[in-house]
Amino acid sequence: MNARKSQVTPPTTNRHLIRWVEKMAELCQPQHIHWVDGSQKEYDRLCEELVASGTFTRLNPKLWPGCFLAHSAPNDVARVEDRTFICSLSKDTAGPTNNWEDPFAMRRKLKQLFRGSMQGRTMYVLPFSMGPIGSPMSQIGVQLTDSPYVVVNMRIMARIGKPVFAEIDKDIKRVVPCMHSVGAPLAPGQQDIPWPCNDTKYIVHFPETREIWSYGSGYGGNALLGKKCFALRIASNIARDEGWMAEHMLILGVESPSGEKTYLAAAFPSACGKTNLAMLIPPKKGFKGWKVWTVGDDIAWIKPDAEGHLRAINPEAGFFGVAPGTSARTNPNAMATLSRNTIFTNVALTPEGGVWWEGMTSDPPAECIDWRGERWTPAIAQSTGRTAAHPNGRFTAPASQCPSIDPEWENPAGVPISAILFGGRRASTLPLVYQAFNWSSGVYIGATMGSETTAAAAGAVGKVRRDPMAMLPFCGYHMGDYFRHWIKMQRSLRSTPRIFHVNWFRKDAEGRFLWPGFSDNMRVLKWIVDRVRGRALSLESPIGWTPRYEDMHWDGMDFDRARFDAIQQVDHAQWKREVMDHEELFLDLHDHLPPEMIYERELLICRL
Ligand code: GTP
Ligand code: SPV
Ligand code: MN
Repeated sequence: MNARKSQVTPPTTNRHLIRWVEKMAELCQPQHIHWVDGSQKEYDRLCEELVASGTFTRLNPKLWPGCFLAHSAPNDVARVEDRTFICSLSKDTAGPTNNWEDPFAMRRKLKQLFRGSMQGRTMYVLPFSMGPIGSPMSQIGVQLTDSPYVVVNMRIMARIGKPVFAEIDKDIKRVVPCMHSVGAPLAPGQQDIPWPCNDTKYIVHFPETREIWSYGSGYGGNALLGKKCFALRIASNIARDEGWMAEHMLILGVESPSGEKTYLAAAFPSACGKTNLAMLIPPKKGFKGWKVWTVGDDIAWIKPDAEGHLRAINPEAGFFGVAPGTSARTNPNAMATLSRNTIFTNVALTPEGGVWWEGMTSDPPAECIDWRGERWTPAIAQSTGRTAAHPNGRFTAPASQCPSIDPEWENPAGVPISAILFGGRRASTLPLVYQAFNWSSGVYIGATMGSETTAAAAGAVGKVRRDPMAMLPFCGYHMGDYFRHWIKMQRSLRSTPRIFHVNWFRKDAEGRFLWPGFSDNMRVLKWIVDRVRGRALSLESPIGWTPRYEDMHWDGMDFDRARFDAIQQVDHAQWKREVMDHEELFLDLHDHLPPEMIYERELLICRL
């Protein structure tokens, strides 16, 4: 598959870049070097090669034009948090919530791992821009990777190729070097496998030198280095130094019937509903003229403008979305987005050459090939409990194809943010919605938020853990300092966004969701917008401002006062336990915690 000749003249004049590529090629010993131009032609050829090598299955072009399916190795299906490292000079800089190793020791280890790791493969030189090319808020990286699967995914997820080399040649922005190898060198004549990877995995960040080294995985956030590694872990370090914020947040705009537009950003942990909320379609009844516009579904870079108002860009260009649960009923905008030019990973293949996953349709197909490549039928599922799609099966789809994509989504200056939402997956304790009293109590709510773990990361699923601002796996420095940064941000603002907490996942005693979620979340968004605009009243509760039953818009929904009271209930015994859990996190972070967090906790305890 590597018959293609590598280009002789690099498409850049940047000497540092050329020298670095040479040095890394010497280390990794690839058979070829390919400078990625980002063109459609190149993309098509790479997809062709991926089909030939068995990594990709081309889907039926009549049903799924331009779409491909990949099945990963079973030991490479999600982010690996226990193999993710922040290698700052001092351990204290990384903090207790990150894995740390001495950067010098780690460099030695990585050198060994990468030595010869690309033998028999092509090393792709992949320049990418996180954020619209040329935006003052954008950042540039170059990923060296031996995975063509990564290259084609990155072409959807980021702006890549020629125009980025042109940016690099202007020499005005620092370039973040990103090394990536799946760690599966090929001996001469050795047959490749569909999903090469290595049991040994290292996802390593050097925050001081702004470098990323990723080894052994080809999946998602482990391998698409512009995403979590750069846009969150490295960018959170840059943001702290430069006075802005890199957050695990969706960005959406709510448009009212009069055309008034209010932008919100929302931080929910992995697989907790960001993509779905970002693409929400308001209920048919009761919301005539209301519309939700999508700016981003996973990451927000947020910066105060000259007027002291926060503005946000989506640094990405595509969605790497959770497939299971996505359907025409729950998320029609996502279904339209992924209907063409999409790469699916770890979902099932139907006999017609289409894809399927749990929740996509109410009736499963009579048979299909599951994500492991084995025959699957509803009967087999019943007897073995095996799902057709992996719970972290995903689609990689261009944001530009989203029917609700906001006309402003590529505005280099970003969109103005009027509210910030925090939320998790909580079966109990946390009400549907409440509003923080002010900025510091809002920071406290974000800092202490908890959520049940999901399949987005390897490990146990369904355990409540503290996940501050949904950044536990993504904050590239000490979590206590990160809270300080949040507190400090207010000083550069003339107007502070209002802060809210939402929970779509509260359950009754029988384990059923109390709230239908999805499009009905619009009712919560409307109250939030009304609060932001000073139109809605609220009640003061011990934890914050909460809507009264009559402050919510119930048109078209049958949800009586008793059910609303149940979902909004602040149970003192449950909150006592909750506050103890807050303390558990704070004990770990104590010597870096801003005093505001201690005071907010005391006040909360007093009110309870
Ligand atoms: P990452 O891409 O991992 O960061 O995830 P995400 O936060 O974008 O989560 P996503 O929107 O993909 O949702 C994850 C799962 O939660 C899907 O299976 C959804 O169907 C489900 N989900 C999303 N919103 C709701 C909701 O309002 N109610 C319920 N019950 N489930 C929801
Ligand atoms: C997440 O886990 O929050 C994701 C998926 O968005 S991944 O890109 O794999 O990190
Ligand atoms: Mn995410």
